[in-house]
Amino acid sequence: MIKKGIILAGGKGTRMSPLTKAVNKQLLPIYDKPLIFYPLSILMLANIRDILIIVNKGQLSQYKKILPDGKNLGIKITYKEQIYPRGLPEAFIIGEKFINKDNVALILGDNFFYGQSLTDQLQKNTKLKKGARIVLHKVNKPELYGVAKVNYKNKVTLIKEKPRKYISDLAITGLYFFDNSVVKFAKELKPSKRGELEIVDLINKYKKRNKLSADLIGRGGAWLDTGSIEDFYKTSAFVSAIENRQGFKIACLEEIAFKNKWINKNQLKNAVNFYGNCDYSNYLKKIYR
Ligand code: DAU
Repeated sequence: MIKKGIILAGGKGTRMSPLTKAVNKQLLPIYDKPLIFYPLSILMLANIRDILIIVNKGQLSQYKKILPDGKNLGIKITYKEQIYPRGLPEAFIIGEKFINKDNVALILGDNFFYGQSLTDQLQKNTKLKKGARIVLHKVNKPELYGVAKVNYKNKVTLIKEKPRKYISDLAITGLYFFDNSVVKFAKELKPSKRGELEIVDLINKYKKRNKLSADLIGRGGAWLDTGSIEDFYKTSAFVSAIENRQGFKIACLEEIAFKNKWINKNQLKNAVNFYGNCDYSNYLKKIYR
């Protein structure tokens, strides 16, 4: 059972400058809430309550203002800084103490997931005991992502980071489930030509040992990554369309915590005081009324 999760929320953010000059990308808005709420909600829906958020050096105080220690959500949030963005697998080196002897999930701070059976799918993946599991989603432009080729049995036969030549249209999303060997494997990695530790090299270590499995998000599910301004805009429009049509909020952290019975009515009221007079608070009021 995976009970620990890491959100990797650093990165240079250069593609979104000047927006990211003073504020970290994951604190910028996707429609009505900061981007970080979305990956955090995914871990919470997966029943993961012990969470490490890795942020850029110097940006800790920004995060703590909006997500202090998790008590208000019935979870535990701890923070670590990444001195320089040296690649995704560094999360497991920075997070070694946090992971300790357990298995762990990793979600990238800029990934957005939405779909009908997502919660069931997430909870199924946290049952992983041995090996690694990646989550795949069909995309139009696979060359922008890590890509996996699978055979008719859904077994991964090839993985490659941003392949120039077409190998498959299944992108490897930024949500990964690993057993405890991930710390040891991450430490063995050498930087690639672009000077980063590569997540595909890490996943390949599992593949070589025949310990890699893949889960597929079907066409009823949405996976959007928010790498550029254009993506931010499109993802915001998606959230706005769903929320305004249905009257449900996507990634309302307090709602998830309350429905899971991790927090009570009083804590919901405290959240309303914390956020002040806004649409998000009005939504919270409707939950406990
Ligand atoms: O979104 C899924 C894709 O994410 C995967 O398909 C790719 O295999 C994977 O390499 C990654 O590709 P990106 O090009 O999107 O990675 P990027 O460098 O933009 O980093 C993704 C997030 O992780 C972003 O929010 C910044 C954060 N990050 C990144 C690095 C390299 C860190 O916090 N520290 C880092 O060292």
